[in-house]
This record gives sequence, C-alpha cells and structure tokens, in this order.
Amino acid sequence: MNLIEKIDTNRLPKHLAIIMDGNGRWAKQKGLLRAFGHENGTKSVRITVETCAKLGIENLTLYAFSTENWNRPKLEVDTLMKLLISSLKNELETLQKNNIRLNCIGNIDRLPEKAKNELLTVIEKTKNNSRMTLTLALSYGSREELLNAVKIISDKVKNNIISTDSLDESIINQHLYTHNLPDVDLVIRTSGEHRISNFLLWQIAYAEFYFTDVLWPDFKEADLYEAIVSYQKRERRFGKTSEQIK
Ligand code: IPE
Ligand code: IPE
Ligand code: MG
Repeated sequence: MNLIEKIDTNRLPKHLAIIMDGNGRWAKQKGLLRAFGHENGTKSVRITVETCAKLGIENLTLYAFSTENWNRPKLEVDTLMKLLISSLKNELETLQKNNIRLNCIGNIDRLPEKAKNELLTVIEKTKNNSRMTLTLALSYGSREELLNAVKIISDKVKNNIISTDSLDESIINQHLYTHNLPDVDLVIRTSGEHRISNFLLWQIAYAEFYFTDVLWPDFKEADLYEAIVSYQKRERRFGKTSEQIK
C-alpha cells in the first residue's frame, strides 16, 4: 500500500504546524553557502503547501523566522528577507490557484518595509480564499506573543473593559496572534532537533509531536505522509483514560 493510501482523510490534523529546520546544515553538507539551503528550502515549502491543500488540511502554520533569528549575521538575515519577498511574489499564483488564504503571526513591524508590504499585499489578495489557511510565523516568538497579550489584557482590565473575574482561557486565546486558528494538533520538526524554539507554546498544549532527521530542503510529499500516518496511529486521550474515549 502506498503511504498516501494509509491516510484517513477524515482524521487529518485540523492544524498542522511545522518547524522548518536544517537549511544551513543541508547547504554545509554540500559545501555550499547557507543561502543555498534557504533557497532550496522554499521548494519544500511549495511542495508542503500544495500537498496539505490537496489532502484537505485546513490550517498549516510554517515557522519561517523567529524573534531569535534576528540575532543571526546581518548578511543571512538580509538573504532571508530577500527570499521572503521573492517567494511572496512568486507564490501568489500558487495560492490563488489552490484557493489558499495567507495569514501571518509575529511582530511584522520589525520586517523591512518592502517585505512587510509584500506580505500585506498577498494577505489582502488571498483573503477570500477558503480551502486552507496558510499562516507564516515571521519574526515570531511565543513569549513575545504571550507578553503582548498580557499587556493588552491588563490595559483592558485597567480601563474596566474586562473584569479580572471574567478572565479565562478563551480571553487569552482571543489576544494571541493565533486568535482565528484552532489549537495545534500536530507539530513536525525537521533536522533531528528535539526542541520547540519558542514556537506556539500556548497553542501546542495538547499537540502531538513528530521529529524527523530529514533536513528541511529534503522534506518532500512522502515525509509529510509519514508524519500524518504516525499521527493517525496515536490515541489522543486529553487526560482521560483509553476506555473513556473508545
Ligand atoms: C531553518 O534552517 C531556517 C531558519 C531558521 C530561518 P536553519 O537556518 O536553522 O538551518 P540549520 O539549523 O542551521 O541547519
Ligand atoms: C527555529 O529554528 C526557527 C525556525 C525554524 C524559523 P532555529 O534553527 O532558529 O532554532 P534553534 O535556534 O536551533 O533552536
Ligand atoms: Mg536551525
């Protein structure tokens, strides 16, 4: 049986989030500059986006650039920003063709003006697409997101817009960048690293994890299918006993 035939399309993760890691090591292994790794990583992005849309995954979130990534050498940051601009320009057609809406999470005011404008343009042009929401985590840090939510909520409490007594988990959800997205069901991280790196800390409370040694530029359809097959073999108990959910 093919891998894809093993996938039950009625039990797909509603929200798949991917930490796309390993571009630099992929390039290094080939004796190339890190920039080539990033460039080849964009091919895996396109394949993953199109495959998820075809499978019927409703929400795909890709970790593209973290708040900590600003600390990389300026040349690498510049390369990544240029690549972001060209990818947004090139992929608009793919997004339209596949009826995919672009969304973003993160502190986008830190992005160079050109990148921010291109991003907002594509978000605007795809806003009525409904097959899948593709969220790019750009200049994203989960702690910054939570801190930001705490600041907005405290202001609202101070100004009597909400009372302390009425604070609950849904109010926190509403003040996160991900307010319009469901909780994450499955996190994939490539490149053999087993860590979260400040990604969606609140939203992954009950997510399943799939780690693979494959470096991001080598990540293709079959790797995605494998992750989903693994996810579908698991029993998600959410604190209950196995008997309770059967
Ligand atoms: C992921 O690949 C891309 C970004 C973090 C922007 P890396 O650039 O982290 O590649 P490695 O981890 O150094 O191999
Ligand atoms: C995480 O990868 C961020 C992205 C994939 C955008 P990193 O390569 O930056 O993570 P660390 O620093 O190794 O944890
Ligand atoms: Mg890395």
